Amino acid sequence: MSKLFSPISLREVDIRNRIVMPPMCQYSAASDGMANDWHLVHYAARAIGGAGLIIVEATAVEPRGRITDYDLGIWDDAHIPMLRRIAANVQRYGAKIGIQIAHAGRKSTATKSTPVSPGPIAFSSDYKTPQELSKDEIKKIIGAFSEGARRAHQAELDLIEIHGAHGYLINQFLSPITNKRTDEYGQTPEGRMRILKEVIGAVRSEWPEKKPLSVRLSAVDRAHGGIELKDTIEIIGKLKTEVDIWHISSGGLTADEIGTVHPGYQVPYSDEIKNRLDCKTIAVGCITTAELAEEIVAGKRADMVALGRELLRNPYWPLYASKELGVDINWPKQYERAKI
Ligand SMILES: Cc1cc2nc3c(=O)[nH]c(=O)nc-3n(C[C@H](O)[C@H](O)[C@H](O)COP(=O)(O)O)c2cc1C
Repeated sequence: MSKLFSPISLREVDIRNRIVMPPMCQYSAASDGMANDWHLVHYAARAIGGAGLIIVEATAVEPRGRITDYDLGIWDDAHIPMLRRIAANVQRYGAKIGIQIAHAGRKSTATKSTPVSPGPIAFSSDYKTPQELSKDEIKKIIGAFSEGARRAHQAELDLIEIHGAHGYLINQFLSPITNKRTDEYGQTPEGRMRILKEVIGAVRSEWPEKKPLSVRLSAVDRAHGGIELKDTIEIIGKLKTEVDIWHISSGGLTADEIGTVHPGYQVPYSDEIKNRLDCKTIAVGCITTAELAEEIVAGKRADMVALGRELLRNPYWPLYASKELGVDINWPKQYERAKI
């Protein structure tokens, strides 16, 4: 009996299998952050293809928090109707839909704004030097995350993921490499995780009890002097009761990363976190085969498995994987005559 194709419930959201499409920027939004027909078709295709949970790409909580000028936004009520259409279209084909709410911090390349960060340290010489955030500005950004959550609920999305990974704003606060602040948002591990804790609280205040919350973290910065797995275990240990599932990635903080990449290379982080802290995790990173995905879930190394580029290449990956694992799943009725 396949574990990959067994359902899972997060709070009151029932998900048909353990296959996740992770957030992947499409760089296809209008300059006002508005989604369009590309997003409507792109996300629905993966629902038709059989994924259980689809997480919409990094969606900025304020304009200067966009990675590029073409990122989705959730800073205005005007964004709600199209997000709602995208959500309804995914749900119609049996998948659940989340959204990753994000702030790029110093990695923003949005042309009409100055990036912000815990301090004035640029990502690399190709990036603008960010402005140091005052405490008041930090509070405003936390408020923008909670407003984003309210809009995500109004758009009838099923799950929120807070982007705390890949060197974006929250990761910049968490890491001692980028956070040299001397106030309560820095100095100690407790100080550096304060913004994440407050963002989680602010999001939860607008996000209904019955809906789940995911947080994506870089388990390690892949940089000397950066976050190590033990630091991430400490952070998650302190916040685990407030978060329903942890999406475990790595890197993205610095321009000169260390370490290698191979199939399932981030799974050991998920495994350690899940089993040490008894919390739910999503594993991600160079997972492309049904066999590996099944082994990760069956081996209790993660509760769910995300396939990024593989689902870009093949939206129907879950349909093929079910065949490979000998599981008889429902195909979309329009495609039944093509069932393998
Ligand atoms: C085109 C593209 C866009 C991405 N955008 C995001 C994003 O918006 N948010 C995020 O957390 N990760 C993003 N990622 C990282 C993916 O979610 C995933 O973690 C990564 O691709 C590794 O998984 P894979 O080896 O299965 O592709 C992106 C990756 C790709 C290829």
